[in-house]
Amino acid sequence: MRRPVFIANWKMNHGPTEARAYMAAFTARWTPHEDRTVIFCPPAISIGVVMHALGSRRDIAVGVQNVWTEDAGAFTGETSARMAADAGARYALVGHSERRHVFGETVAETALKCAAAVRNGLTPILCVGELLAQREAGTTNEIVLNQLRAGLAEVGNESVAAAIIAYEPVWAIGTGKTATPADASTVHAHLRGALRERIGDRAAAVPIVYGGSVNGGNAESLLAARDVDGLLVGGACLDPANWATICGTRAAKG
Ligand code: 13P
Repeated sequence: MRRPVFIANWKMNHGPTEARAYMAAFTARWTPHEDRTVIFCPPAISIGVVMHALGSRRDIAVGVQNVWTEDAGAFTGETSARMAADAGARYALVGHSERRHVFGETVAETALKCAAAVRNGLTPILCVGELLAQREAGTTNEIVLNQLRAGLAEVGNESVAAAIIAYEPVWAIGTGKTATPADASTVHAHLRGALRERIGDRAAAVPIVYGGSVNGGNAESLLAARDVDGLLVGGACLDPANWATICGTRAAKG
């Protein structure tokens, strides 16, 4: 059994002051659940505040939204995986659709960022997803499998087995359009097949989460789908009460 994973991606929202208020509201209503993993990915500048708000709570983990490929040096404006780990992060989103399509991140950079995360003890959450035109052209599987294989090319099999994969169709992000549970399930099964080629039976334990216009109304049906092991949420995680509701989604298969 894979434990469901609920990942909040705040994107460029909630600076330190808002993050402090948010975490106070969330931690007051969210009690530890042993059957699921909750991860917050705040902007790097708010990680310290989030860590402080969590205090001794170990049931909620923190991730960084992006890392640079190097650990330190003359890279103005970037955050390294080493620094994110030092700030308390345990996870790193890598290859998020906005990094690829807004900031022009290449698959080669994505691979180096996964390697930087692993080198610094962070678990990569490798994001893959096709554009609408690619879906309409029938190339979804080819696109996401290429992103998966290339993204993991610079890390060893142990790290692949310990990673989290996120399928986020680009056309579903922030648009209110969601993949159907069946469509998500189909892509997730292909992704797991590709993981199996790389790491054999250990692929069965790798969480593959879905993202793209997830909300309180569709979370349960998406999570019920085969091979959908969790949710990566943007807009609907920005309110602490909404997010606590989504984190509490019944996670039963079938
Ligand atoms: P939305 O939930 O706002 O569609 O964003 C999804 C996403 O990109 C999470 O990483």
